[in-house]
Amino acid sequence: MVDFAALRDDFPILHKPVHGKRLAYLDSAASSQKPQMVLDALQEAYGTHYANVHRGLHYLSEAATDAYEAVRQKVASLINAPSPSEVIFTSGATMSLNLIAHSWGGANLQEGDEILITIAEHHANIVPWQMVAQQKGAKLIAAPMAEDGSFDKAAFAACITERTKVISLPHVSNVLGTVYPLTEIAALARQAGALFVVDGCQGVVHMPVDVQEIDCDFYVFSGHKLYGPSGIGVCWGKADILADMPPFLGGGDMIDDVEIERSTYAPPPARFEAGTPPIAECIGLGAAIDYVQQIGMAAIRDHEMSLLRYGTQRLSEVDGITFIGTAAGKSGVISFTLDEVHPHDISTLIDHDGVAIRAGHHCAQPLMKSLGLSSTARASVGIYSCEEDFDALTEALHKVNRIFKS
Ligand code: ALA
Repeated sequence: MVDFAALRDDFPILHKPVHGKRLAYLDSAASSQKPQMVLDALQEAYGTHYANVHRGLHYLSEAATDAYEAVRQKVASLINAPSPSEVIFTSGATMSLNLIAHSWGGANLQEGDEILITIAEHHANIVPWQMVAQQKGAKLIAAPMAEDGSFDKAAFAACITERTKVISLPHVSNVLGTVYPLTEIAALARQAGALFVVDGCQGVVHMPVDVQEIDCDFYVFSGHKLYGPSGIGVCWGKADILADMPPFLGGGDMIDDVEIERSTYAPPPARFEAGTPPIAECIGLGAAIDYVQQIGMAAIRDHEMSLLRYGTQRLSEVDGITFIGTAAGKSGVISFTLDEVHPHDISTLIDHDGVAIRAGHHCAQPLMKSLGLSSTARASVGIYSCEEDFDALTEALHKVNRIFKS
């Protein structure tokens, strides 16, 4: 049995008061806080075995390379990838999605082809596809979501045509919290012969992930939401698909042979890791993966789901609150509005009570427009979140109501 209350002590920042108040950090979907184990790994990487990777024939370079390469296996084990060589390190999920869109899309999409997403996408799963669609004369199509924010399988299936070449979706919506039924969608993608890409940013942090069971072609995520450093991300892809993809960025470390007229390229993963990578950040991500795996992703999921139930129940007490996204089994986030109070005002006011949430369009403007909203307030949980955080948020929102409605 994991003692989640005790585990808060692993996160030094959670004990720093904000505006003189206890910090209730409910913005983990934007970025999570880091455990001491990750901070120590960064310190150790720079302090004891730092040099450039894959380049030096000296002790420190080999030590850094070994530490960096060891993280591929940790990622593979986290998401049950068949091989660590299918794990590409990027600067984050946004870069991973750009890599797939520009490399795979650039090589494979043709005029009239269709890329299918949903209206609930983060901009990182819209704009890269839009860019490649514009270059290739392809079309980006967004399927609607059901009114309660759940995935509408019938409406989605109706958007699949013989021109659908890519299906790219989040594992979990960063605004609605909806958990997409990935295995069912994978079956639709297989039937259509489409590439299936999953933006796992808000998924891998909250629940066990098995890319073989999902049967997706790509699964991407960012280190900074998984209690690791910023500047490091993952693009996992099936070996045979990666092998056929051209490089996205050119430079050192991704080549086989270079001449002035032409170059040949290294096999994956090196082909997609041009230049000096985020070395210490990658080692820090490895420590973050060790950390969550010690706790267990299933235990993390159960803890957070029970906390979301508590949070939803507490927040329901607040006069004028409307929840945005109420799909069954939702994960990670609670988005809401509070009558006419602007979400930016909510966030700014409750910050003075030490409560940190996100307010805005959450990088999902098409979703906001489809909901007839410009923004929402959003509380999101991490492994260190607790009932006290939601108690503080509830009290702070009562106070907002007193200010605006008196
Ligand atoms: N994608 C992050 C969020 O949802 C930044 O807040």
